[in-house]
Amino acid sequence: MAGIYIHYPFCKSRCYYCDFYSVTEEKLSEAFFQALLFELNLRKSMLGDAVIETIYFGGGTPSLLSAPKIGLIIEEIAKHFNIADHAEITIEANPDDVTSGYARRLHEEGVNRISLGIQSFYNYHLRLMNRRHKVLKGIKSIEIFKSAGFDNISIDLIYGLPEFTLAEWKKTLKKAVNLDIQHISAYHLTYEDNTVFSTLKKKGLLKPVDEELSYQQFMLLSEFLEANNFVHYEISNFGHLGRFSRHNINYWKNIPYLGLGPSAHSFDGKNRYWNDSNISKYIRIDKKIGDIITKEELSAKDFFNEYIMTGLRTYWGIDIDYIKEHFSEQQAISTERFATPYIDSEHIRKERNKLILTKKGMLISYKIIADLFMS
Ligand SMILES: C[S@@+](CC[C@H](N)C(=O)[O-])C[C@H]1O[C@@H](n2cnc3c(N)ncnc32)[C@H](O)[C@@H]1O
Ligand code: SF4
Repeated sequence: MAGIYIHYPFCKSRCYYCDFYSVTEEKLSEAFFQALLFELNLRKSMLGDAVIETIYFGGGTPSLLSAPKIGLIIEEIAKHFNIADHAEITIEANPDDVTSGYARRLHEEGVNRISLGIQSFYNYHLRLMNRRHKVLKGIKSIEIFKSAGFDNISIDLIYGLPEFTLAEWKKTLKKAVNLDIQHISAYHLTYEDNTVFSTLKKKGLLKPVDEELSYQQFMLLSEFLEANNFVHYEISNFGHLGRFSRHNINYWKNIPYLGLGPSAHSFDGKNRYWNDSNISKYIRIDKKIGDIITKEELSAKDFFNEYIMTGLRTYWGIDIDYIKEHFSEQQAISTERFATPYIDSEHIRKERNKLILTKKGMLISYKIIADLFMS
């Protein structure tokens, strides 16, 4: 079992909060496409004869790629790999790019899951973030995908935006639920270095929401969606049963994946690889592949810390027996010891041999995860 991730590194314009790798020079798109096919051919052996369970087109804005090109990439993958019959094939889409023709054709090409960058149902937010689309187009694009036959649609939302009230957030969540979609990824705004938002924050022109409001928005998010048939299965992810993101779950389960395109990461079961975030270098990939890829062999400590980090973010938690079996008895004992104060303060819930973050714990997940890491 394995996954394939494709990073499409172009956006029409850059959103002011985002530090994902992408450039706006779309004229390089054709050269990128050729380089991508080249990289796939060059690196396919990394996954051996594993069956491909998930394919994920992320970015950047992969919905800027034409549907036939998406189809060609899937076809090329199918030439080299056995794609599972029920494989999950996702594309991240910007509402502004969505037309009925595009949606229908994506469906015909085998894409069966959509992740739409809705972000907000308020136009003043969308303008503040420098999003391309408006609220109505966001809603319309969901309808378009549904009419084209998609029954696995996820939307991205951002909360904790400056001046965002709890009442506005509640209206946003109600709207999201009424759209009858299967999955919601909701992220608290983070001020990433080298973004317009972080510059504005430093200049005092954007004021982050206070901690109390962040806490209230997170609680409302989790409780409201849980009351409306969504399972809160990861800190930022909510899905109907059977509609969780299989691609992301496989990352968390250490299932190998091949990441193609600039800034993409890969994992072969033992080593982690990451591609340079540099489109100019990438389109010259045929010259020297080694120039764009960094490899790191994971140590037992890396595997353990990764297990803690991904496990604690999910509602499956971490398993003390698993730690005993895959790491050591001593490690299991010390993990429980470090978790005890958090169990007492109700940040962690202990269920038999499992340690699971409570909602209160999710809010300080970074601190708890760091405390449980192997140093
Ligand atoms: C690669 S982008 C999504 C795809 C597509 N490019 C789009 O924007 O429509 C992944 C998601 O991460 C979230 N995100 C990115 N930067 C963020 C930040 N600084 N704070 C909170 N959420 C962020 C946004 O919700 C975004 O849709
Ligand atoms: S959020 Fe999406 S569209 Fe906006 S800059 Fe980031 S990758 Fe591009």
